[in-house]
Formats: sequence, C-alpha cells, structure tokens
Amino acid sequence: MKDLLATLGPNDPDWELARAIDANRLPAHIAIIMDGNGRWANRRSLPRVAGHRAGVGPVRSTVETCARLGIQVLTLYAFSVENWKRPRAEVDTLWRLLGFYLRKELPELQSNDIRLKAIGRLEALPDGVRRQLEDVVAATKRNRGLLVNLAINYGGRAELVDAMNAALDRARARGEADTFRFDERSISENLYTAGHPEPDLLIRTSGELRVSNFLLWQIAYAEFFVTDTLWPDFTRSDLLKAILAYQARDRRYGGLSPSLDTPVASAGEVQVEAAGAVFR
Ligand code: IPE
Ligand code: IPE
Ligand code: MG
Repeated sequence: MKDLLATLGPNDPDWELARAIDANRLPAHIAIIMDGNGRWANRRSLPRVAGHRAGVGPVRSTVETCARLGIQVLTLYAFSVENWKRPRAEVDTLWRLLGFYLRKELPELQSNDIRLKAIGRLEALPDGVRRQLEDVVAATKRNRGLLVNLAINYGGRAELVDAMNAALDRARARGEADTFRFDERSISENLYTAGHPEPDLLIRTSGELRVSNFLLWQIAYAEFFVTDTLWPDFTRSDLLKAILAYQARDRRYGGLSPSLDTPVASAGEVQVEAAGAVFR
C-alpha cells in the first residue's frame, strides 16, 4: 500500500482514491472476469482481435497495482473452456497474445517479486504457448510477492470434476477407496487454487451479470463488483474504486452484521417461539 502511494505522488489523479483505501482491510484475493474486448473493438469498427490486443495494457497495470497494494492473489480469467467455440482465427490470436505477454513480462514479474501460476486444463493448449507458460511459472516460482493466477482453458465445473477425481485417486493410493466419501475439505484441497485464500472480491467488466463458469466453488462468499467499463478501458482508478466499494460492504457470511448483533428477543421469548406457541 505504501508502495502505491509512493509511486503515485499527491499530484496523481488516483492519489485521493488510493488514500481512501484502508490498508488493513484489503481483499486478500481479487478475481477478475476480463470481459468486453470484442465490444470495445466493435464500437471502433475494428476487428475483435484489436480488442484483445488492447486488453493487454490493463492486464499489466492491474498486476502492477495489485503488487504495489500488497494484494496476495490476483486471478485473471483469460480463456474459458467454452471460448473454443469462437472462430479459429480469434483463438489463435489469443494464444499469440499470451505468448507475447509472457515473453515481454518476465523481467517485470521478476523485478517485482511476482509469481505466475496458470490454472485450467493446460494440456489442451498449443505446445509452444504451453511450454512458454511452464517456463515462466518455473522461473517465478520462488517469488514471494503477488501471486497471479492466469485462468486459461479454465472452467469452474471442469475444476470441480478434476478436484473430485484427484481426491478419489489419492484415496485409492492410500488404499481407502472403498470407504472414501467427499467432503468440503477433500474437494478444496484438490482445487487448482488449493492452499490460497478464496476470492474476497470478484470484478466483472462490461456490465454482464453472470459468472460464466468462473471459480464456482471459491466465490461462495466473494463480493461482486460489476462495472460497465469494457476491459480495454479498465484503469487503475476502476480497480481502486472496486476495492473501495468492497471495503464498504457488510460481509455477513450468513450471520449478523456486528452493528446488528444485539439480542433480538429474551431467552424466554425464544423458547416460546421455538415451541411454536407465540409469534410476536
Ligand atoms: C473477453 O472479451 C476476453 C475473452 C473472453 C477471451 P470478449 O472477447 O468476451 O469480449 P465481448 O464480450 O465479446 O465484448
Ligand atoms: C468469460 O467471458 C470468459 C473470459 C473473460 C475469459 P465470456 O465472454 O466468454 O462470457 P459469456 O459468453 O459472455 O458468458
Ligand atoms: Mg465476452
């Protein structure tokens, strides 16, 4: 957090926003559905791939801002298992852009102590880009700053299927397949994101009000922030505003908010109500 303020300086237009953020209540994990590249291009009468190209800049600035803020985990939805339905030329361009980003970004990741991880069914990626990805993951694996999860060929349902199969395989390896039953722990421990905090804040750009098969298990209690801004237009200000909105939320997790946490009835009244005799 101090890092961000130090790089901004009081004359920066984001200075006041950054100062308003409570450094003690930052989301540990921010997940982003980076949507709207195609519409951004359409509005400019450009081909859809121009929108994807324009989406690389906001990825860079978002990673940098999260690192400077001291966020622990940033998960970026880059390609879903359903995105193979798109025209071949668009999909190929996405792989080329990913390769370009990885080549260019490695020194930046290293100098900012950022660790890159990829989550998804990576075995289906073209060999070249998969190897590049593996190289960057290996080269940054000892970094201890921000963890960036790139969700690529990712599907929340696919992840759950993979996690359950992995849990079952482990039980088999222990010779416990006959008695094994799934529970929340055995599933969580085998997710692609095992060991990391669950997303506190889920951002979606381009105004769509759906989760599109993203982190289905992990977002059980994430706070949603949807902005109409299209991903190529997403700036540091948008990210800071999302964090501020998150900090104004009342996270109850099914319980009561601390401000409302006063007795609602005397013990006697509760007993009577529980017996079904009186409701007042
Ligand atoms: C998000 O932008 C990027 C990917 C899904 C790869 P879109 O390409 O979905 O853009 P829209 O939603 O068509 O505008
Ligand atoms: C979700 O966006 C996937 C990514 C951002 C990578 P989509 O554009 O694929 O989602 P839908 O089709 O609008 O639900
Ligand atoms: Mg879209």
